[in-house]
Amino acid sequence: MKEIINGLSVFLEGNSKNKSIIFLHGFPYDHTMWKAQINELSEKYFCVTYDIRGLGESPVDDGQYTMESFVDDLEIIIDQLKLHNPILCGLSMGGYISLRALERMEEKFSAVILCDTRADADGNEGKLKRAAAIKRINTEGLAPFAKDFITNCFGDDYKKNHKDEFEKRIAKSSGFNPVGVKGSLLAMLGRNDTTEYLSKIKIPALVICGEFDALTPPEVMKPLAEKINGAEFVVIKNSGHMSPIENPKEVNKAIMKFLEKIKKK
Ligand code: MLT
Repeated sequence: MKEIINGLSVFLEGNSKNKSIIFLHGFPYDHTMWKAQINELSEKYFCVTYDIRGLGESPVDDGQYTMESFVDDLEIIIDQLKLHNPILCGLSMGGYISLRALERMEEKFSAVILCDTRADADGNEGKLKRAAAIKRINTEGLAPFAKDFITNCFGDDYKKNHKDEFEKRIAKSSGFNPVGVKGSLLAMLGRNDTTEYLSKIKIPALVICGEFDALTPPEVMKPLAEKINGAEFVVIKNSGHMSPIENPKEVNKAIMKFLEKIKKK
């Protein structure tokens, strides 16, 4: 079922009386990246996902976003749906939103799942890369940037064995509004560093990373997991940055195991 909340396209699956999980997608994707997780989890959980402002079916508005405004959107969705202590599950940019949301209002959540993400902010090199990406989109249009960015996100195995789906992802993201995509780049460029908060997280945490993730590799994610008290760290075999799409079986297994464990507590 689709609902419009604060202008955003929000997708709801499962029984709203069940424990809720909110899925936050990465850049430059949309809610459909969580399809395999929601298919399996919606039997027992109320699964909420949405297109982050500027991407997918959500409106672009003025294209001027910050990580704070992305967290504001998340908070409005939680409040409007009256979700009681949902579990947060974010990948990469969705992870940046999740970590900042915890820093701002951890008491609203009961657990967090961080996939292929990082806590540190962009350094100088990263900021210059974002600026170059915006310049490229302005001069060449969105498609060449989207193709290169998405190609770097996926591992070789997926690109070889799921050629059609991979091409469809590129085509879909290439069709997004460039103003919204550039707005996300600026929001990521300007985000704050949440590393200091990691050791303060009190809710249970699962940290997931594709073994061949070229953007947020296991060398980045293992230390992130180690900073969170009691966090579990799972490396997903044969997967790049988009582990929920590339190896849904292993990702779902890790998530289910984590959810069963925290249910017993
Ligand atoms: C993502 O997957 O959301 C992006 O790789 C995040 C980023 O560019 O920092």
